[in-house]
Amino acid sequence: MASNVKVNILVIGGGMICEEATLPAIFQQKRLGNVGKITVVSLNSAIIQRLRTVFPKEEFEGVPDPKTTPADKNIPDGYKECLKKLPKPGLVYVTTPDHLHTQMILDSIAAGHDVVSMKPLCLKVDEGRQIVQAAKEVRQKRGKQPAPAPADRKKSISADKLAQLQDLVIRLEELASVPQMQISPIHIRRCVARMKELLF
Ligand SMILES: NC(=O)c1ccc[n+]([C@@H]2O[C@H](COP(=O)([O-])OP(=O)(O)OC[C@H]3O[C@@H](n4cnc5c(N)ncnc54)[C@H](O)[C@@H]3O)[C@@H](O)[C@H]2O)c1
Repeated sequence: MASNVKVNILVIGGGMICEEATLPAIFQQKRLGNVGKITVVSLNSAIIQRLRTVFPKEEFEGVPDPKTTPADKNIPDGYKECLKKLPKPGLVYVTTPDHLHTQMILDSIAAGHDVVSMKPLCLKVDEGRQIVQAAKEVRQKRGKQPAPAPADRKKSISADKLAQLQDLVIRLEELASVPQMQISPIHIRRCVARMKELLF
């Protein structure tokens, strides 16, 4: 189903998993109307050239551009400029080798984008903690931003409250998906009360 908001996507990588899984899924979402601009940034232009051959009909910006950059010139920091240029709402897919994930995820969060990373998320527990902390800080900052003036009768809610509401809905859906699970009326009333607190 098409959404009103089109997400702009930056894919960092361009190798096997990107070609076989990430890009086909993104192109499909683009056809469904859910995706705006697509950019793929890789280590060198030879990888972009290969993706152009594999996906001749798909529309995406490739960085570095094979027309202007020699195939063997590696640009490991090229993704940083792409993060700056990615329009909001922006989503970054990290599909590079494992040891590069943490820094790329942290840079993406710092640039104000949402991130999806190929597994493993990172190599050390401490790196995972850094990522969680960075995401929390951004979420708190977003929550503190003044909410836009309410349009018509719609009430605007902060990103933090929205995330809490989403958590509640996910929890209820999980409970409802277990066939033998009986959700008690008390549990439902508690959830509704919490949702009201967040909304009104
Ligand atoms: N291949 C799989 O079946 C599979 C499955 C699940 C998860 N993964 C994970 O997905 C990730 C990618 O795996 P892959 O198999 O596609 O590897 P790959 O080596 O085929 O692709 C990685 C790509 O990242 C590019 N790259 C390297 N440094 C870069 C940089 N600084 N900036 C931009 N691009 C850079 C490389 O040039 C290469 O094209 C890994 O973390 C892997 O563990 C892979």
